[in-house]
Amino acid sequence: PATLEGSIFNLKVQKGTSEIFPGQRTNTIGYNGAQLGPTLILQKGETVTINVDNQLDDTTTVHWHGLHLSPANDGGPHTPIMAGNTWSPSFKVMDQASTYWYHPHLHRKTLNQVVKGASGFIIVRDPAEASLNLPRTYGVDDVPLVFQWKTFDESKQIVEMDEVDNEVLVNGVLKGATLNLPAQVVRLRLLNGSSHRYFNFGFSNNLEFKQIAGDGGLLDAPVAMTKLILAPGERAEVLLDLSKSLGQKLLLQHFGTELPMGYPGGMMMMMMGGTENMMGPLDDTDFDLMQIQVLAPTPNAIGSIPPALITNTPLSSNGAFNRDLTMTARPQMSMTNFFLNESKFEMNTINFKVSKGAAEVWTLTNQTMMAHPFHLHGNSFWVISVNNRKPAANLLGRKDVITVPPINGAVKIVVRYDDFSDSVTPYMYHCHILSHEDNGMMGQFLVA
Ligand code: C2O
Ligand code: CU
Ligand code: CU
Repeated sequence: PATLEGSIFNLKVQKGTSEIFPGQRTNTIGYNGAQLGPTLILQKGETVTINVDNQLDDTTTVHWHGLHLSPANDGGPHTPIMAGNTWSPSFKVMDQASTYWYHPHLHRKTLNQVVKGASGFIIVRDPAEASLNLPRTYGVDDVPLVFQWKTFDESKQIVEMDEVDNEVLVNGVLKGATLNLPAQVVRLRLLNGSSHRYFNFGFSNNLEFKQIAGDGGLLDAPVAMTKLILAPGERAEVLLDLSKSLGQKLLLQHFGTELPMGYPGGMMMMMMGGTENMMGPLDDTDFDLMQIQVLAPTPNAIGSIPPALITNTPLSSNGAFNRDLTMTARPQMSMTNFFLNESKFEMNTINFKVSKGAAEVWTLTNQTMMAHPFHLHGNSFWVISVNNRKPAANLLGRKDVITVPPINGAVKIVVRYDDFSDSVTPYMYHCHILSHEDNGMMGQFLVA
């Protein structure tokens, strides 16, 4: 995607058609184009204004997913932009260098607008990241990649039926396309922009790669891995050392058969006499996402991966207020009808209030048969435990999406809202599976 930089950004959300399948036009939605949107490059500490011009014939909102900003600037369901209107939030960038994204968030319309193509990347840069010897030449050795499962009907139009996703797009292009990368250390910014399904990324020949950042910032040190699971809404920056791979072809693959039971995209539980069929043609299979052709290195190539990155100081949970959120299904075996603390989202109901400046520990419990990616607005959190164990090393940085495993899985997070209060406009928390969110697996709170 193209980039936009500076302090004033103009986004026009509009309808268009995209040639996703050769010779066929698919109706899509995009920002400043037919599908997806430009990457916004933000500098920490700068004040930016983003003018969002709604050229759809429908209401929309634009949410800056992962950014730490006031509820009024957050772009949730309470800041609708009517057709033909412009919304111009202005805010100071307070986040750490990392990869964020933007997408519509209108209640009951989020799935519809996101699957049609409305989303884009946000890259935040800061001095700590800039002082490290990391690849950061956009589109050359630093490449954002959004992966999206989608359902197309026979006339190749995008439909909302996310239970039967039948295609995967990478940056809006059918999976299997070729990406050229130089023979040096490269950085891939991975975003699972799917409405419903998980990815389990890996490379051919079990090539090792290193995760350097999670949702909201760099990790303390690169974490070596050969497989990486990303939930809908979740991001990871990974480094790949291609310095000895000149002339080779690699594959970036999805290993659906290795997803844990109950993770959408992998194997779901056997339905006990139920009629709900959650299997799509690409579920519980492995497939190639992208071919990587390794070409000559660039001048100023990064030749090695730094052993250490930044020093994260996680929030302390000492003396924190405890809050419980329980995910349930009705009927109990349902794979589509979910609740948070036994309730559904209501636009006019504030679920609770959080005291400004006071740390809170949230215990997220999942009593359903499937994994749910929990997302919190307006702030990053720190993961304390997953199923009562210390989280994996790649989850130890700032996060805003965390998977709560199925069948009594439990996650503890700690968060503190220090900077903004608002007695009217709430922040959201929800499952980032968009049909669950639209169907009310969401809540809202005020910070006072
Ligand atoms: Cu990415 Cu509330 O959303
Ligand atoms: Cu968000
Ligand atoms: Cu869910």
